[in-house]
Amino acid sequence: MDAVRIRGSRRLNGRIPVGGAKNAALPILCATLLSDGESLLRRVPRLRDIETTAALLRFLGRNVEVATPEVRVAAASSPVRPEAPYELVRQMRASVLVLGPLLARFGRAKVSLPGGCAIGARPIDQHLQGLQALGAKIRVEHGYVIAEAPRLRGAEIVFDLSTVTGTENLMMAAALARGRTTLVNCAREPEVEELGKVLNKMGAAVEGAGTATIHITGRDELEPFDHAIISDRIEAGTFMAAIAAAGGNVLVEHAPFDDLEPVIVKLRQTGVGIEREGDGIRVWREQPIRPVDVTTAPHPGFPTDMQAQFMALMCVAEGRSVLTETIFENRFMHVPELLRMGADIETRNNTAIVQGVGALSGASVMATDLRASASLVIAGLVAEGETVVRRVYHLDRGYEAIEKKLAGVGADIERVRVDARPP
Ligand code: EPZ
Repeated sequence: MDAVRIRGSRRLNGRIPVGGAKNAALPILCATLLSDGESLLRRVPRLRDIETTAALLRFLGRNVEVATPEVRVAAASSPVRPEAPYELVRQMRASVLVLGPLLARFGRAKVSLPGGCAIGARPIDQHLQGLQALGAKIRVEHGYVIAEAPRLRGAEIVFDLSTVTGTENLMMAAALARGRTTLVNCAREPEVEELGKVLNKMGAAVEGAGTATIHITGRDELEPFDHAIISDRIEAGTFMAAIAAAGGNVLVEHAPFDDLEPVIVKLRQTGVGIEREGDGIRVWREQPIRPVDVTTAPHPGFPTDMQAQFMALMCVAEGRSVLTETIFENRFMHVPELLRMGADIETRNNTAIVQGVGALSGASVMATDLRASASLVIAGLVAEGETVVRRVYHLDRGYEAIEKKLAGVGADIERVRVDARPP
């Protein structure tokens, strides 16, 4: 089994590249179902979740050519079978993003319910309520959502809470609905805005993507697209937290400064230097890390996908910080592993109180989810001695060759094979 081995206490220097955004690529690849022509997506990172999405689109009956950073999707000779099986959906919750496009394009869809997840229950009630408001008949049977609608029709939909993939699913469904749809209380993440740009390229009329209210005028048909996706703000943020923790001076290339505002504000408060430089961000740290409190929130609040990485940084801050997770009810799975490395963290419900320690000590630790694994890599970079992070398949879901990229700025990190049985 693969693991990542890190020998810590090395400062980082040089340049590190950021790739295209996973959470923009996934919905946009699903949007290819809305048109029969050949669509081309550029700057696609080489990730397990991209492979899973490609496998799902092939299962649905699409020709998919993955030659990262390019992915081509086109109609195949055989008709689309609008069914997403449990075997594929259980590998990646975001597979639910085929529901809106399949229903809108083919009038019916059978999609496995995603089921539970390490970080929370993550229901899809908002997705289903929205599709029902667009006129779909929906029932849940044997673990599958079965949705039918000869033709969706525009409506006004108010989300009970901000949901990223919920907003994206409804945007794609409304793009082929008859008439105008208004989505209220939408997620404002940059990846939602990016999907809006692609739907407009396909001929839909989407206004306000990236704001709380989105208007969509549906079309009878949509065109294929050729699009290069935005950079991954969470990959960039992860590198910035790693540089802050290890110390040094690095240019994070292609990092989306504006999308990272909430993370930059907090990192600057810790005493880290951050400046825009060309299409990237220069990050440097010379002085001790100051403790800073953080509460996660939907964009433009502090992203939950950066909470674990920021906690690793706070483990070596000079003082006490409080991290509050408001999006997912079970997103502190990295805490027991950080404690194994000598961190001082106390959790109470959705709050973690982190008392910075002088130094962490290297240990064998277990990744539990994508962002938790990134926080363990950061902890390993600052720890004394050797850290081995197991179950890195979590890491590979969202980071392309992270160990090679970090080694490129001086980290002593490599991928190794380990015995599947923990020591
Ligand atoms: C997206 O997940 C991201 N995934 C997640 O990134 C990210 O953590 C999350 O948004 C929040 O920013 C992708 O974009 C593929 P939500 P999503 O619907 O859309 C509740 C990563 O690390 N909710 O915005 O599934 C839900 O349980 C991943 O890259 C409902 O109750 O998240 C959660 O508490 C992890 N009913 C909250 O809303 C619904 O119908 C926000 O979830 C939908 C959501």
